[in-house]
Amino acid sequence: MKIAIYPGTFDPITYGHVDVIERAREIFDKVIVMVARNSSKAPLFSTEERVKMIKDVVKKFKNVEVDSSEGLLVNYAKKKKATAIVRGLRAVSDFEYEFQMALTNRKLAKEITTVFLMPHEKYTYLNSSIVREIARMGGDVSGFVPVSVKQTLRKKFK
Ligand code: COA
Repeated sequence: MKIAIYPGTFDPITYGHVDVIERAREIFDKVIVMVARNSSKAPLFSTEERVKMIKDVVKKFKNVEVDSSEGLLVNYAKKKKATAIVRGLRAVSDFEYEFQMALTNRKLAKEITTVFLMPHEKYTYLNSSIVREIARMGGDVSGFVPVSVKQTLRKKFK
């Protein structure tokens, strides 16, 4: 069984992330979306809130699970018997950071391969910070996040 981990902060999950999950689940038998607890970012949503939002969005996909973890990603991947880490590459600007992470992770665990998937070009500009900012200012985020996420954002900024 080919298992892949899709790690990230997901603060919150956007259509760009969902696009990557949909592509990954076609390639791997199981995809585990892993919310990083110890991200250096100060997330708007708690880990539990982020996990819940993702679960709501991916419940229609049978081979996708959602989890959270702290510590090194490669240790988590080994524990889950995963052979791949999935990352989305949106633009050249993502490359340097992703290249560094992929090579570092390969140095730490050579049996785990990082696989880059390109989300649809209509999501190239998208990230979670933009979504948070629009929602904070009362803008419409319908084109960027699933309905359940939009509702959670609305509650947060009430
Ligand atoms: N569509 C839309 N947005 C996307 C996206 C996509 N397909 N892919 C990434 N993004 C956005 C995210 O929304 C996020 O936006 P933000 O910065 O505005 O919030 C940004 O791109 C990058 O976020 P993300 O993909 O979540 O990565 P990250 O940099 O927050 O997470 C981890 C990095 C969690 C994977 C990394 O820190 C990690 O592995 N941590 C575990 C500890 C460890 O092992 N460290 C050593 C690593 S070498």
